[in-house]
Amino acid sequence: MVKSANKLDNEKKVFKPNYMLVEEAHVKNWEAEIEKGKDMEKYWAEKAEQFEWFQKWDQVLDESNKPFYKWFTNGKINLAYNAVDRWIHTDKRNQVAILYANERGDEKKLTYYELYREVNKMANALKNLGVEKGDTVSMYMPMCPELLISMLACNKIGAVHSVVYSGLSVGAFVERMNDAKAKILVTADGTFRRGKVIDLKKIVDEAMLKCHTIETTIVVKHAGNPIHMSELSGKEIFYDTLLEGEPDECPVEEMDSEDPLFILYTSGSTGKPKAVLHTTAGYMVGVATTLKTIFDIHNGDLWWCTGDIGWITGHSYLIYGPLLLGTTTLVYEGAPDYPDPGIWWKIVEKYGVTKLYTSPTAIRHLMRYGNKYPTVYNLSSLKILGSVGEPMNPAAWMWLYRNIGQEKTPIMDTWWQTETGMHMISPLPVSHLKPGTPTLPFPGVDIDVVDENGNPVPVGEDGYVVVKKPWPAMFRTLYKDEKRFVNVYWKDIPGGVYRAGDMARKDEDGYIWIQGRSDDVLKIAGHRVGTSEVEAAFSSHPAVAEAAVIGKSDPVKGQVIKAFVILKEGYKLTTKLISELQRHVRYELGPVAVLGDIVQVDNLPKTRSGKIMRRVLRAREEGKDLGDLSTLEDG
Ligand code: PRX
Repeated sequence: MVKSANKLDNEKKVFKPNYMLVEEAHVKNWEAEIEKGKDMEKYWAEKAEQFEWFQKWDQVLDESNKPFYKWFTNGKINLAYNAVDRWIHTDKRNQVAILYANERGDEKKLTYYELYREVNKMANALKNLGVEKGDTVSMYMPMCPELLISMLACNKIGAVHSVVYSGLSVGAFVERMNDAKAKILVTADGTFRRGKVIDLKKIVDEAMLKCHTIETTIVVKHAGNPIHMSELSGKEIFYDTLLEGEPDECPVEEMDSEDPLFILYTSGSTGKPKAVLHTTAGYMVGVATTLKTIFDIHNGDLWWCTGDIGWITGHSYLIYGPLLLGTTTLVYEGAPDYPDPGIWWKIVEKYGVTKLYTSPTAIRHLMRYGNKYPTVYNLSSLKILGSVGEPMNPAAWMWLYRNIGQEKTPIMDTWWQTETGMHMISPLPVSHLKPGTPTLPFPGVDIDVVDENGNPVPVGEDGYVVVKKPWPAMFRTLYKDEKRFVNVYWKDIPGGVYRAGDMARKDEDGYIWIQGRSDDVLKIAGHRVGTSEVEAAFSSHPAVAEAAVIGKSDPVKGQVIKAFVILKEGYKLTTKLISELQRHVRYELGPVAVLGDIVQVDNLPKTRSGKIMRRVLRAREEGKDLGDLSTLEDG
């Protein structure tokens, strides 16, 4: 029994596995599984057997063109077939695949058979619009069943989806759309958020003035808000109208293991957002295996991932992982504290959620309300909890463990990235846990913490997180930018390793403690926000000559933005201008860009080559030693 919530005590505390979970666990011995994973190719090949292949692979891993690795070469497979079609010939046919609920109390259930037919109709409709294998289809949608259907429909016919998070606003949306150059966009009228309807179509209308590749926009009537549809024939069409009369059978496209599956944008430290490309078979194997092993998915589970589908967490573990395992996935549209901060616990009780996967920011937000809300509800259906996106501080871990897990559900703190596609560092239900660390690399994954020369750092010292061997769900490249792919991830540290961009320490048990990003990427409420994107948004305001931004610690969101701006002549940073700048940045980037402070400065620290030295701003902010300033322009 845990007695103290004191941070240091808990950091040292080890939590033993719950014996009831060990009994039913797919993997009962963590160490033995890690040992098994050392024969990496054999390990992943065995896992690949869980799927139906149209043609088996010749080679598990092709390393002939590093770092452009290939997995399961010459295999032929289809994701939608394995996630949906496969189940309709089993006793899962009439089981609920997607359980949709929203903050207004509406709900919708789609069985595997119903999902199968909807996916086929949409797949046929996309084909009729001229979409072919390899074409890109963009999506900008709320958390609604039609988004999952559209993504699966793309898989079914071999199209590549590019989902843009619906919390991103006009500027960020336009940039991602123009980069992907899709001809089709699937969107919706609006989305529900805290009792209001956010007009998504209005954002799309504005964005379309600057996106010239889109020929057809498909609009789902979801929130019922009034919208304007283009009069031009074929330009904009309602989803329901498009699907009318479409047959509910559609032939499946046999995809090569390495055929592109989707692109997903994520922010980097410099320049435009990175279009991370994932391919078919390896991604399926990695995602399904990790979900099954870490969250111990069994028949009868009700899986709830609270992340948004617009991010990798939603792609891998809200849609693909659970459906590939034939489980029921809950899709919830709404905020965690509306109509009150008990809503999540009410949903857990109402539907009997068994596995809940969420984020440290959400937990820190909800724990501010104490245990008043969770105690009202019966949370006994919960068996395993999980977290992703940022370091889970021990206080949040303990709150979740005590108040939600009632000291019997282990917490799977999973470390991974858009680029890794799947969980990379994580405990299993049978692991000994320490609050604040994702523990050890997943079996079959080789990760270390090293110095800049690639040598492992001693216990307790800071180093870079690197992945030393390829893993199946790894991204294959940055879409249309192989040079950046090689330069950003595979060059800095010797030894041909993947540099994740995070700093970490290892403890005496080898457990990895993530310290945060080592580059200029902010983690705001678990979302990756590139400093250069925010700076560009500031600089596009007429009053701003130049801007630099850094992350400032925030007790709930992890980090928020602190901006240093140089104003053009004649401007002063008045309260009015501050609120105007806030609105402007929010308009460009959306609510992910949470602004803390904006301060006016006369100059910014720069290198002689003109790059802003954000680390100097950070050090000044934290009152730390400024480090090596030899490249600073004016000392
Ligand atoms: O800094 C790490 C942090 O999130 C980054 C990846 O962000 P993104 O690509 O948006 O994917 C988030 C969802 C997979 C990582 O480089 N991060 C993710 N999980 C953890 C974490 N930091 C600490 N602990 C975690 N469990």
